[in-house]
Amino acid sequence: MPSGFLSKLNGARNVFTFRDFILLPGRSEVEPGEIALSSKLTRNIRLKVPLVSSPMDTVTEWNLALEMAKLGGAGTIHRNMPIGRQVEQAKKVKSAKVEAASIDDRGRPLVGASVSPLDRERCVALDRVADFLVADVAHFHTTKVMDAARRLVPDLSADFVAGNVGTSKAALDILDELPRVDGFRAGIGSGSICITSEVTRVGAPTLYAVAEVATALQERKAEIPVIADGGVRGPGDAALAFAAGASTVMLGSMLAGTDEAPSKVVVRGGVRYKTHRGMASAAARKVRFAVDRYSVPAKGLDEGVEAFVPCVGKAQKVVANMENGLRAAFGYAGASSVQNMWSRASFGLVTPAGATELGAHSLEVKK
Ligand code: XMP
Repeated sequence: MPSGFLSKLNGARNVFTFRDFILLPGRSEVEPGEIALSSKLTRNIRLKVPLVSSPMDTVTEWNLALEMAKLGGAGTIHRNMPIGRQVEQAKKVKSAKVEAASIDDRGRPLVGASVSPLDRERCVALDRVADFLVADVAHFHTTKVMDAARRLVPDLSADFVAGNVGTSKAALDILDELPRVDGFRAGIGSGSICITSEVTRVGAPTLYAVAEVATALQERKAEIPVIADGGVRGPGDAALAFAAGASTVMLGSMLAGTDEAPSKVVVRGGVRYKTHRGMASAAARKVRFAVDRYSVPAKGLDEGVEAFVPCVGKAQKVVANMENGLRAAFGYAGASSVQNMWSRASFGLVTPAGATELGAHSLEVKK
């Protein structure tokens, strides 16, 4: 066995992505309609539909957050705006007089807000309004961020989600060093608009990150939910994330083209699109530096792209498609609930040579 640097190459881990796996069929005891998709978002929040929208400025402002709460999921208001405006956005959701499936103990719609633990002022202001705070830091596993979170968390009443993280070691350090953590946001580099791994060659793809974090939590017998974040393109990817230990799935680009997402519609070649961008893209970072005095441009590096996503209509349609697809996937995999998926699911590895056989092939598909 080679030692030294060579052993690092030869001992490399398999860092699998959604595209690398399928779920194997398993004996099913329930009808798709009887499958329980309800799952925990954080230690104290359970969702009827295990989907949460990304805190991105082309995805979640009050409109989509409210819609997600109505549908049984939840939304996380982005932080690319002044503190006062983010607070107003969260308040707008909380004070909406609608029937929502995700509600707090006073019957008001649930809402989350994204924060940086380094921005205490924002955290404290949002803590008074939002039900959960989601750390929105590309690499939570840094001493500076963890120290800030350690000091912050005792003063919060909302549930606190740490992220993003990608390894067991990160999860264990967070458990050891923070007085409390109510959720983990796992995945580094898989997001549709994300170029972190392309630029830096560092990453923890979402499926791998979820399995790493969930395994660490399992070993510690810590019942803290994991959010799979980044790269989910449909119900199949979400089903894989649940099978790997996730409790909920975060969606960015899948919701960026909905009517409720904040971007304006643009028509290109007769087709309707909305603009979508990474929160570490040049344009989004420009806004952030203007509104957030804690965001120091430490890296001067673009880690996200700006893009167009086709308009897809109402968020309700996207969520319904996801629910139907998840029920089908759970049914095939023989799982009756998210927790049941954790224990029952087994993975099949797809080779690059075989991958094309899994879609329509050897014919010309009618448009
Ligand atoms: P999807 O694939 O659902 O991913 O669009 C959304 C997630 O991507 C992350 N995100 C970024 N990652 N650079 C990154 O490396 C970025 O600029 C960026 N913006 C968003 C984030 O975790 C989000 O939830």
